[in-house]
Amino acid sequence: MARRLALVTGASSGIGAAFAREFARRGWDLALVARREDRLKDMAEELKAQFGVDSLVIAADLSKPDAPETIVKAVSDAGRQIDALVNNAGVGRPGAFVELSWEDQAQFMELMVTSYLKLMHLVAKPMAERSFGRIINIASVSALLPAANAHTRYSGTLYPGAKSLLIKVSEALGLELKDRNVHVTAVAPGYTWSEFHDVNGARGTVSNLPSFWMLTAEEVAVSGYDAVERGVPLRVPGAWYKFLVAVSRVLPDPVGQAIMRLQEKRMVAKAQANAAS
Ligand SMILES: NC(=O)c1ccc[n+]([C@@H]2O[C@H](COP(=O)([O-])OP(=O)(O)OC[C@H]3O[C@@H](n4cnc5c(N)ncnc54)[C@H](OP(=O)(O)O)[C@@H]3O)[C@@H](O)[C@H]2O)c1
Repeated sequence: MARRLALVTGASSGIGAAFAREFARRGWDLALVARREDRLKDMAEELKAQFGVDSLVIAADLSKPDAPETIVKAVSDAGRQIDALVNNAGVGRPGAFVELSWEDQAQFMELMVTSYLKLMHLVAKPMAERSFGRIINIASVSALLPAANAHTRYSGTLYPGAKSLLIKVSEALGLELKDRNVHVTAVAPGYTWSEFHDVNGARGTVSNLPSFWMLTAEEVAVSGYDAVERGVPLRVPGAWYKFLVAVSRVLPDPVGQAIMRLQEKRMVAKAQANAAS
């Protein structure tokens, strides 16, 4: 039997690269998607050498509305079908909602929400018809914690809302396809080592966090793979973040928000002190 194929967006770095390695380790072929084609080609070579699997390299910008169709067509033109989808590509776009242009925010939503939904829409029906599919949507723990200015400061005002939508849609689509052997999982990581905080300019602040706040991309990928195989609709990787989410579910909102404000103040003060020294 031909190997199954997993399409991973944002496979050129961080969590996406870790998912590509995790699927390859489990014997899947890959379709690797991102804008930096050179990195994807290196990854394809690495996966072949280390795990003996084949990869399609698809350079695409998922903030462009036609990208999802082009990507799925590239896979079918290569004579392959998509058995698993890891919707992961993403960025933080720091800045106040009222200051950023609408064009900027619309492009952000195209990448962070619409492209995820379009890719799911393109692959979920064929998966259901074949009675096999795995879909992972990378959300964020920020969608499960009380609102905080930190989200605007580091990732954008729309970020937690965009990620919340992915969690709700994953749960609903998972129920819809429950009897078709198509599992849908939202993975909600907390702070994770990757290039994310270099791209959004928050590295100075995030580097000051205690080490137990930081997840590795590999931890996220191993946990996400396990969750989708088990058919778990939402997975929060790491004991610390499971604890935070559990606590925030029982705390009254104003108390949770006050704690978030306090934590943010401490992070900013520490980053400023470090920058001054
Ligand atoms: N790191 C964290 O603390 C954290 C926490 C919670 C959730 N997340 C989520 O995890 C996901 C992956 O982020 P990461 O932490 O792994 O960050 P990362 O290392 O910066 O990786 C982001 C990936 O997305 C790709 N990408 C960005 N814009 C793209 C575009 N327009 N079109 C196609 N690909 C694009 C990048 O590839 P190219 O630049 O080559 O296109 C890269 O492969 C994101 O959805 C993020 O919101 C991250």
